[in-house]
Amino acid sequence: MFKRMFVVLSLLIVASMILPACATGGTGGGTIKVGLLAPLSGQVPTFGQSTKEGAELAVKEWNAKGGIRGKKIDLIVADSQCSPDPAVNAANKLIDQDGVKFIVGEVCSSASIPVAEIVNPKGVVQISPTSTNPSVTVDTNGATRPYTFRACFIDPFQGLVMAKFATDKGYKTAFIMFDQGNDYVRGLAEAFEKSFVELGGTIVGKESYTTTDTDFSAILTKVAESNAEVLWLPDYYNIVNLVGAQAKDKGVTAVMMGGDGWDSSDLDVKAADGGFYSNHYDPGDTRPIVQQWLKTYGEAYKDAQGNPKVPDALATLAYDATNLMLAAIDKAGTEDTAKVAEAMAAIKWDAVSGTITFDAQHNPIKAAAVISVSGGKKTFIDSVAP
Ligand code: PHE
Repeated sequence: MFKRMFVVLSLLIVASMILPACATGGTGGGTIKVGLLAPLSGQVPTFGQSTKEGAELAVKEWNAKGGIRGKKIDLIVADSQCSPDPAVNAANKLIDQDGVKFIVGEVCSSASIPVAEIVNPKGVVQISPTSTNPSVTVDTNGATRPYTFRACFIDPFQGLVMAKFATDKGYKTAFIMFDQGNDYVRGLAEAFEKSFVELGGTIVGKESYTTTDTDFSAILTKVAESNAEVLWLPDYYNIVNLVGAQAKDKGVTAVMMGGDGWDSSDLDVKAADGGFYSNHYDPGDTRPIVQQWLKTYGEAYKDAQGNPKVPDALATLAYDATNLMLAAIDKAGTEDTAKVAEAMAAIKWDAVSGTITFDAQHNPIKAAAVISVSGGKKTFIDSVAP
């Protein structure tokens, strides 16, 4: 009787020692929650859909390998709409209600910047797959945000690549159109202007519009009158579709050029015909990791005709960013977010979009692809390394 009580008591003591260890990150059971901020609704839903597909595939692969330290990865997706307030609300919900300590997102710079402002004081690790504005990872004092990273190059580089491309084609004059209220668009407009002028080009006109504008005829009349050789339009595909169609009606002859925001299965290839844009990867890249990714993605997702879908840059970078986050959690050996951020800062990861190591501002150094839109097709033209 006495002996039995002793056994029960010792079992209880042992159990009380083991259970909390499990709950705080031992090797058995439990999940690691990762939040994904994706613009599933709003102006640019293809960005959200692709991002979700890319992130889900990365999580599926980690879980198939057994997760991290025996814990499965639980991806919690929140609709952040490519917009500051919805993104901040979605991030707060992930952190405060779902208990998430790791966030992949947002896609759009003007959503990622305010999210970076709230996650850093809370010590939540953030990696944006695709936000290219410098202020995502650097605060207003120029200090690197300790918990924020990105998996893509930044706009000063992207602007330089396209300014150089335009100059190499012999173009000397450009007209710039930009959305004043969008951090990404405004930043990429400035980046192109700076590089184009440095390379000897002249900006013959510059006009801004607002996010809700749909009629660009007044600006496009000025573009036509300016005789600019290049129309620099660094906005997202929804605006490119509108401006491109209206420019053709107005008899604008300038060659339209832009950045990664053009990348969408919903880019109107007729409206953008004759244009060029920079992007993060090229599906024609022969590296085995790219070819394996095309296969994995094509098997998982089909288009409306039932054909394998080709991953766009959003899907690819979401896959890379999610892998980076999980690799950092794995490498840190703990879910302590300060340690995970430290592990991320020092990581070297072979990503589909190129090998990633971070500089002091938490930006990877990567090449850009230049794509042409012509005859209803998007064609890879060149890869430009920094
Ligand atoms: N770079 C864009 C931004 O910062 C987002 C984007 C990336 C859109 C890649 C399309 C493709 O807002």
